[in-house]
Amino acid sequence: MLKATLLRAVESAGKVLKENIDRSFTISNKEGINNLVTEVDHKSEEVIFSVIKESFPDHYILSEESGEIVQDSSYKWIIDPIDGTVNYANGIPICCVSIGIEKDGKMVLGAVYNPFLNELFFAERGEGATLNEKKIQVSNHADLIKSCMVTGFPYTYLDMPNGPLQVFEKFIRKGIPVRRLGSAAIDLCWVAAGRFDGFYEHKLNAWDSAAGFIIVEEAGGKVTDLKGEYYNPYQPGIIATNGKIHDELIRVVNGGNL
Ligand code: IPD
Ligand code: CA
Ligand code: CA
Repeated sequence: MLKATLLRAVESAGKVLKENIDRSFTISNKEGINNLVTEVDHKSEEVIFSVIKESFPDHYILSEESGEIVQDSSYKWIIDPIDGTVNYANGIPICCVSIGIEKDGKMVLGAVYNPFLNELFFAERGEGATLNEKKIQVSNHADLIKSCMVTGFPYTYLDMPNGPLQVFEKFIRKGIPVRRLGSAAIDLCWVAAGRFDGFYEHKLNAWDSAAGFIIVEEAGGKVTDLKGEYYNPYQPGIIATNGKIHDELIRVVNGGNL
């Protein structure tokens, strides 16, 4: 029932994204420059809320645009109604609906749906991860220097040692491909599917990573914070890899040379 509701929620919201991308919609700005929210983010959120409330009216909800609906429940839905809003607002079809579900503070289910590529990623704790119902697995590459990486940048620049641009520059100077898709949830799912060997980002919110986090773990990958400690989606930094390049990536992100 929980899984069916989760899938119904991401698929119904994905339909909203698909139907509206070519239409005109209002776009407004949040904190920072070009940190956008569109009318469709709100529509997607409304559809997700109504699907959840039909089956689980007493569950706790944390959603990017509406904040928290606090309930005394062991279940918490963590929702990004459009991950990749800047892409969406520019008609770039690299964006998705992302929903993770925590039970007693542990991520137990995650679904990420990109309606434009018709890719539905799903994972349940202990049951593996799938893409359109087929099992997926992280890559096997063990050498960071030969890896294909992905990252993202925060809307507000982080003036910190070993910040996003310094780390990015180190990879680029060595000729290591680092893609920047603009959707952290898709970045994580593509690590899970073995398309990327690793992903790192310095400042995310829980709704960006909740679903992708469990999808990577269930695909056999490793997810930690920037220091290599147990990953908690309520703190900013993330490193997600196939496991084989993880320690090396942590070293580089923390100032080490390539
Ligand atoms: C953003 C995307 C992007 C990441 C940003 C996020 P949004 O989410 O996931 O890839 O670099 O940090 O805020 O605003 O499109 O939901
Ligand atoms: Ca997001
Ligand atoms: Ca969003």
